[in-house]
Amino acid sequence: MQFSTNNTLFIGKNLITLKQVDSTNNYAKLLTNSGPVPEGTVILAEEQYGGRGQAGNSWQSDPAKNLTFSIILACDFLPPSDQFFLSMAVSLGMLEGAGPLLKDNCCIKWPNDIYSGRKKLGGLLIENILSGSRLKTSIAGIGINVNQDHFPDLPRATSLKKEAGRGFSLDRVFTALCAGIEARFLQLKGGARGALKEDYLRHLLGYRQRRQFRLPFSASAFEGIITGITPEGRLLVETADGQKAFDKKEISFVF
Ligand code: BTN
Repeated sequence: MQFSTNNTLFIGKNLITLKQVDSTNNYAKLLTNSGPVPEGTVILAEEQYGGRGQAGNSWQSDPAKNLTFSIILACDFLPPSDQFFLSMAVSLGMLEGAGPLLKDNCCIKWPNDIYSGRKKLGGLLIENILSGSRLKTSIAGIGINVNQDHFPDLPRATSLKKEAGRGFSLDRVFTALCAGIEARFLQLKGGARGALKEDYLRHLLGYRQRRQFRLPFSASAFEGIITGITPEGRLLVETADGQKAFDKKEISFVF
Protein backbone atom coordinates (compact mmCIF):
# COMPACT_ATOMS: atom_id res chain seq x y z
CA MET A 1 0.00 0.00 0.00
CA GLN A 2 1.36 3.41 -1.00
CA PHE A 3 0.82 6.43 1.21
CA SER A 4 1.26 10.03 0.13
CA THR A 5 1.65 13.24 2.08
CA ASN A 6 1.84 15.82 -0.66
CA ASN A 7 -0.43 18.25 1.18
CA THR A 8 1.74 18.73 4.27
CA LEU A 9 4.88 20.73 5.03
CA PHE A 10 6.59 18.32 7.40
CA ILE A 11 4.26 15.66 8.80
CA GLY A 12 4.84 12.38 7.00
CA LYS A 13 7.59 13.68 4.72
CA ASN A 14 9.75 11.06 6.38
CA LEU A 15 7.43 8.06 6.35
CA ILE A 16 8.41 4.67 7.70
CA THR A 17 5.91 1.97 6.79
CA LEU A 18 6.06 -1.39 8.54
CA LYS A 19 4.23 -4.60 7.80
CA GLN A 20 4.16 -5.58 11.47
CA VAL A 21 5.35 -4.06 14.76
CA ASP A 22 4.42 -4.38 18.43
CA SER A 23 3.38 -0.72 18.65
CA THR A 24 4.24 2.22 16.40
CA ASN A 25 4.61 4.33 19.56
CA ASN A 26 7.26 1.91 20.87
CA TYR A 27 9.07 2.02 17.53
CA ALA A 28 8.92 5.84 17.47
CA LYS A 29 10.32 6.01 21.00
CA LEU A 30 13.23 3.70 20.15
CA LEU A 31 13.95 5.71 17.02
CA THR A 32 13.88 9.02 18.89
CA ASN A 33 16.20 7.69 21.58
CA SER A 34 18.66 6.35 19.02
CA GLY A 35 19.57 9.71 17.43
CA PRO A 36 18.18 12.76 15.61
CA VAL A 37 14.97 12.15 13.69
CA PRO A 38 13.38 14.66 11.28
CA GLU A 39 10.42 16.40 12.85
CA GLY A 40 7.11 15.05 11.60
CA THR A 41 8.48 11.55 10.98
CA VAL A 42 5.60 9.09 10.78
CA ILE A 43 5.77 5.41 11.60
CA LEU A 44 2.81 3.58 10.11
CA ALA A 45 2.11 -0.12 10.55
CA GLU A 46 -0.20 -2.44 8.69
CA GLU A 47 -0.46 -4.55 11.84
CA GLN A 48 0.33 -3.98 15.53
CA TYR A 49 0.54 -7.04 17.76
CA GLY A 50 0.94 -5.00 20.96
CA GLY A 51 -1.01 -1.84 20.16
CA ARG A 52 -1.49 0.34 23.22
CA GLY A 53 -4.39 2.58 24.18
CA GLN A 54 -5.12 5.05 26.95
CA ALA A 55 -5.03 4.06 30.59
CA GLY A 56 -3.00 0.88 29.99
CA ASN A 57 -5.61 -0.62 27.67
CA SER A 58 -4.69 -2.42 24.48
CA TRP A 59 -5.60 -1.11 21.03
CA GLN A 60 -7.15 -3.74 18.77
CA SER A 61 -7.17 -3.18 15.03
CA ASP A 62 -7.59 -5.72 12.21
CA PRO A 63 -4.48 -5.86 9.98
CA ALA A 64 -4.57 -3.64 6.87
CA LYS A 65 -8.11 -2.44 7.56
CA ASN A 66 -7.41 0.64 9.62
CA LEU A 67 -4.79 3.31 10.27
CA THR A 68 -2.35 2.90 13.12
CA PHE A 69 0.53 5.36 13.11
CA SER A 70 2.71 7.58 15.28
CA ILE A 71 3.98 11.09 14.58
CA ILE A 72 7.21 12.37 16.12
CA LEU A 73 6.79 16.03 17.09
CA ALA A 74 9.29 18.49 18.58
CA CYS A 75 7.48 20.07 21.51
CA ASP A 76 10.28 21.94 23.25
CA PHE A 77 8.29 25.17 22.82
CA LEU A 78 5.56 23.87 25.12
CA PRO A 79 5.90 24.22 28.92
CA PRO A 80 5.10 20.83 30.57
CA SER A 81 2.16 22.50 32.32
CA ASP A 82 0.63 23.12 28.87
CA GLN A 83 0.88 19.52 27.66
CA PHE A 84 -2.85 19.21 27.29
CA PHE A 85 -2.76 21.80 24.51
CA LEU A 86 -0.94 19.25 22.38
CA SER A 87 -3.66 16.72 23.07
CA MET A 88 -6.29 19.31 22.08
CA ALA A 89 -4.40 20.25 18.90
CA VAL A 90 -3.89 16.66 17.70
CA SER A 91 -7.42 15.53 18.50
CA LEU A 92 -8.87 18.59 16.72
CA GLY A 93 -6.63 17.82 13.74
CA MET A 94 -7.85 14.20 13.71
CA LEU A 95 -11.45 15.37 13.88
CA GLU A 96 -10.95 17.87 11.08
CA GLY A 97 -9.14 15.30 8.97
CA ALA A 98 -11.54 12.38 9.38
CA GLY A 99 -14.80 14.15 10.26
CA PRO A 100 -15.56 15.62 6.81
CA LEU A 101 -15.44 12.11 5.30
CA LEU A 102 -18.74 11.43 7.06
CA LYS A 103 -22.01 13.29 6.57
CA ASP A 104 -22.93 13.38 10.22
CA ASN A 105 -21.02 15.48 12.62
CA CYS A 106 -18.19 13.87 14.53
CA CYS A 107 -17.01 15.17 17.85
CA ILE A 108 -14.27 14.79 20.44
CA LYS A 109 -15.09 12.83 23.54
CA TRP A 110 -12.96 14.09 26.39
CA PRO A 111 -10.08 13.83 26.57
CA ASN A 112 -9.17 12.90 23.00
CA ASP A 113 -11.38 10.21 21.46
CA ILE A 114 -12.96 10.79 18.08
CA TYR A 115 -16.63 9.87 18.06
CA SER A 116 -19.27 9.54 15.40
CA GLY A 117 -22.58 9.79 17.18
CA ARG A 118 -22.29 7.55 20.24
CA LYS A 119 -19.50 5.38 18.85
CA LYS A 120 -15.74 5.62 18.92
CA LEU A 121 -13.98 5.97 15.57
CA GLY A 122 -10.50 6.49 16.87
CA GLY A 123 -8.20 7.50 19.67
CA LEU A 124 -4.93 9.15 20.52
CA LEU A 125 -2.10 8.11 22.81
CA ILE A 126 0.47 10.86 23.39
CA GLU A 127 3.75 9.90 25.03
CA ASN A 128 6.32 12.54 25.95
CA ILE A 129 10.08 12.37 26.10
CA LEU A 130 11.44 14.88 28.60
CA SER A 131 14.82 16.54 28.87
CA GLY A 132 15.13 17.25 32.60
CA SER A 133 11.79 18.79 33.44
CA ARG A 134 11.23 20.16 29.93
CA LEU A 135 9.31 18.57 27.09
CA LYS A 136 11.53 17.56 24.23
CA THR A 137 9.71 15.24 21.89
CA SER A 138 6.14 14.02 21.83
CA ILE A 139 4.95 10.90 20.13
CA ALA A 140 1.37 11.17 18.97
CA GLY A 141 0.01 7.66 18.42
CA ILE A 142 -3.12 7.65 16.30
CA GLY A 143 -5.58 4.84 15.71
CA ILE A 144 -8.51 5.44 13.35
CA ASN A 145 -10.88 2.67 12.36
CA VAL A 146 -11.41 2.89 8.63
CA ASN A 147 -12.61 -0.29 6.90
CA GLN A 148 -13.16 -2.74 9.75
CA ASP A 149 -16.66 -4.26 9.70
CA HIS A 150 -16.82 -6.08 13.03
CA PHE A 151 -15.61 -5.21 16.51
CA PRO A 152 -16.24 -8.27 18.64
CA ASP A 153 -16.21 -7.38 22.35
CA LEU A 154 -16.04 -3.64 21.61
CA PRO A 155 -19.69 -2.57 21.48
CA ARG A 156 -18.83 1.12 21.40
CA ALA A 157 -16.35 0.92 18.50
CA THR A 158 -17.13 1.87 14.92
CA SER A 159 -15.30 2.61 11.67
CA LEU A 160 -15.65 5.14 8.89
CA LYS A 161 -16.98 2.30 6.71
CA LYS A 162 -19.64 1.28 9.23
CA GLU A 163 -20.77 4.88 9.60
CA ALA A 164 -20.74 5.78 5.90
CA GLY A 165 -21.86 2.45 4.49
CA ARG A 166 -18.91 2.37 2.09
CA GLY A 167 -15.18 1.73 2.27
CA PHE A 168 -12.42 4.35 2.15
CA SER A 169 -8.94 4.46 0.68
CA LEU A 170 -6.51 4.26 3.61
CA ASP A 171 -4.22 6.63 1.74
CA ARG A 172 -6.93 9.24 1.38
CA VAL A 173 -7.80 9.11 5.09
CA PHE A 174 -4.12 9.18 6.08
CA THR A 175 -3.48 12.24 3.91
CA ALA A 176 -6.47 14.06 5.39
CA LEU A 177 -5.43 13.21 8.96
CA CYS A 178 -1.84 14.37 8.47
CA ALA A 179 -3.00 17.68 6.94
CA GLY A 180 -5.53 18.26 9.72
CA ILE A 181 -3.03 17.49 12.48
CA GLU A 182 -0.30 19.60 10.92
CA ALA A 183 -2.58 22.64 10.63
CA ARG A 184 -3.55 22.44 14.31
CA PHE A 185 0.01 21.71 15.46
CA LEU A 186 1.25 24.81 13.59
CA GLN A 187 -1.52 26.83 15.22
CA LEU A 188 -0.32 25.61 18.62
CA LYS A 189 3.29 26.41 17.75
CA GLY A 190 2.18 29.86 16.63
CA GLY A 191 0.90 30.50 20.15
CA ALA A 192 -2.85 30.60 19.44
CA ARG A 193 -3.72 28.61 22.54
CA GLY A 194 -6.91 30.52 23.35
CA ALA A 195 -8.38 29.86 19.89
CA LEU A 196 -7.34 26.19 20.08
CA LYS A 197 -9.07 25.68 23.39
CA GLU A 198 -12.20 27.46 22.16
CA ASP A 199 -12.37 25.20 19.09
CA TYR A 200 -11.70 22.10 21.20
CA LEU A 201 -14.57 22.98 23.53
CA ARG A 202 -16.85 23.75 20.59
CA HIS A 203 -16.35 20.19 19.33
CA LEU A 204 -16.44 18.51 22.73
CA LEU A 205 -19.17 15.94 23.27
CA GLY A 206 -21.63 17.25 25.85
CA TYR A 207 -20.08 20.69 26.29
CA ARG A 208 -22.57 22.92 28.14
CA GLN A 209 -25.24 20.19 27.91
CA ARG A 210 -26.96 18.49 30.80
CA ARG A 211 -26.03 14.80 30.71
CA GLN A 212 -25.47 11.70 32.79
CA PHE A 213 -22.13 10.57 34.17
CA ARG A 214 -21.01 7.77 36.43
CA LEU A 215 -18.28 7.53 39.05
CA PRO A 216 -16.00 4.47 39.00
CA PHE A 217 -17.50 1.40 40.69
CA SER A 218 -20.83 3.16 41.09
CA ALA A 219 -24.05 1.74 39.71
CA SER A 220 -25.96 5.00 39.87
CA ALA A 221 -25.54 7.88 37.46
CA PHE A 222 -25.44 11.57 38.32
CA GLU A 223 -26.35 14.60 36.27
CA GLY A 224 -23.92 17.31 35.34
CA ILE A 225 -22.94 19.91 32.77
CA ILE A 226 -19.45 20.04 31.27
CA THR A 227 -18.30 23.63 31.73
CA GLY A 228 -14.68 23.40 30.62
CA ILE A 229 -11.31 21.82 31.22
CA THR A 230 -8.51 22.77 33.57
CA PRO A 231 -5.03 23.67 32.23
CA GLU A 232 -3.93 20.11 33.08
CA GLY A 233 -6.80 18.71 31.01
CA ARG A 234 -9.16 17.67 33.81
CA LEU A 235 -12.85 17.76 32.96
CA LEU A 236 -14.86 20.45 34.76
CA VAL A 237 -18.42 19.39 35.51
CA GLU A 238 -21.09 21.43 37.26
CA THR A 239 -22.91 18.99 39.54
CA ALA A 240 -25.64 19.31 42.17
CA ASP A 241 -22.77 19.66 44.71
CA GLY A 242 -20.99 22.40 42.79
CA GLN A 243 -18.20 22.39 40.20
CA LYS A 244 -15.84 19.41 40.25
CA ALA A 245 -12.72 18.51 38.25
CA PHE A 246 -12.24 14.92 37.12
CA ASP A 247 -9.28 12.91 35.85
CA LYS A 248 -9.75 10.32 33.12
CA LYS A 249 -10.25 7.41 35.49
CA GLU A 250 -12.54 9.33 37.82
CA ILE A 251 -15.58 9.72 35.59
CA SER A 252 -17.32 7.93 32.74
CA PHE A 253 -20.01 9.05 30.33
CA VAL A 254 -23.42 7.38 30.32
CA PHE A 255 -24.73 6.95 26.77
C1 BTN B 1 -7.08 5.16 22.94
O1 BTN B 1 -8.12 5.65 22.54
O2 BTN B 1 -7.07 4.36 23.90
C2 BTN B 1 -5.78 5.51 22.27
C3 BTN B 1 -5.50 4.61 21.11
C4 BTN B 1 -4.20 4.89 20.41
C5 BTN B 1 -3.85 3.79 19.44
C6 BTN B 1 -2.68 4.14 18.57
S1 BTN B 1 -2.50 3.02 17.24
C7 BTN B 1 -0.96 3.73 16.83
C8 BTN B 1 -0.25 4.02 18.13
N1 BTN B 1 0.48 2.86 18.59
C9 BTN B 1 -0.02 2.35 19.71
O3 BTN B 1 0.40 1.33 20.28
N2 BTN B 1 -1.06 3.07 20.12
C10 BTN B 1 -1.32 4.19 19.23
